[in-house]
Amino acid sequence: MNRKSVSFSILSGKGGVGKSNLALNISCGLHLLGRKVLLIDCDMGLANMDVLLGVTPGKHLQDILINNQDPAEILIPFGAEGRPGLDLLPANSGMAGFVDLDAGARSMLREKLNPLACAYDFICLDIGAGISPTVLNFASMTTLRLVVVTAEPTSLTDSYALMKVLSARYDVTDFHIIVNMAESREEAKRTFSRLAAVCERFLGFTPSFLCEIRADKVLTDAVRKQRPLMELAPRSPASRDCMAAAEKLDKMRGVLSAGGALDTPLRNVNAVN
Ligand SMILES: Nc1ncnc2c1ncn2[C@@H]1O[C@H](COP(=O)(O)OP(=O)(O)O)[C@@H](O)[C@H]1O
Ligand SMILES: [Mg+2]
Repeated sequence: MNRKSVSFSILSGKGGVGKSNLALNISCGLHLLGRKVLLIDCDMGLANMDVLLGVTPGKHLQDILINNQDPAEILIPFGAEGRPGLDLLPANSGMAGFVDLDAGARSMLREKLNPLACAYDFICLDIGAGISPTVLNFASMTTLRLVVVTAEPTSLTDSYALMKVLSARYDVTDFHIIVNMAESREEAKRTFSRLAAVCERFLGFTPSFLCEIRADKVLTDAVRKQRPLMELAPRSPASRDCMAAAEKLDKMRGVLSAGGALDTPLRNVNAVN
């Protein structure tokens, strides 16, 4: 078993906070650093990574469950200028029966994905918003959990609820916070401090601050053009911030790898409650 792969999930309590765009652009950033990256669209209800990339997949993640499809045959390479090592595993949107997978389906998916995941340095899971059992289970599988918040009070309360439920159900207490659509670093730090304070007081753990991603109009253009911001405008504020996030993740991988802490990319963690 390869021990070099780091998986990370991108989570949020509330939808529309930028998870999919950050998953995409941080993945591009890691690829620019020379890493092999597998991006998996795990938003089983409202999958849209294919739309962000302007691609039309023939097969989807759900086919692994329905047709016993080999995950390697579903991959869509999307590295800039055809550079290898950056692949998407797309999912189908609007398949009501797949929004909440039962425990058997989840473990089957994990077992089928792990052999493929081992060939990558990073595996990024773009996960749906909220606190459904499937969301919680996917989040518990990854080496790292990135929680995306904005300065809106509803985003903060919803991400607090997500961390609370994950810690209670899966005993997971390590979270890395990304403050998205930040007006400034100071505002991002204030947002983080508010969230960290309630976690410390009521949950007994403190999340760590990963980075802020500035509000960036060019990101909206990239979404409309169905191209990754990192490719369209690598020097725009949000691209630079996604690059900074990628650099931090890459450093974390170095530390985890040196400490011999890397295990199977997608772990089987049983709920404690
Ligand atoms: N840093 C940002 N700057 C400006 N707009 C952003 C930023 N991040 C996200 N958005 C906007 O938010 C929208 C929703 O983002 P998306 O990644 O689809 O969210 P989620 O996956 O959390 O539902 C995007 O289409 C974009 O218009
Ligand atoms: Mg999304």
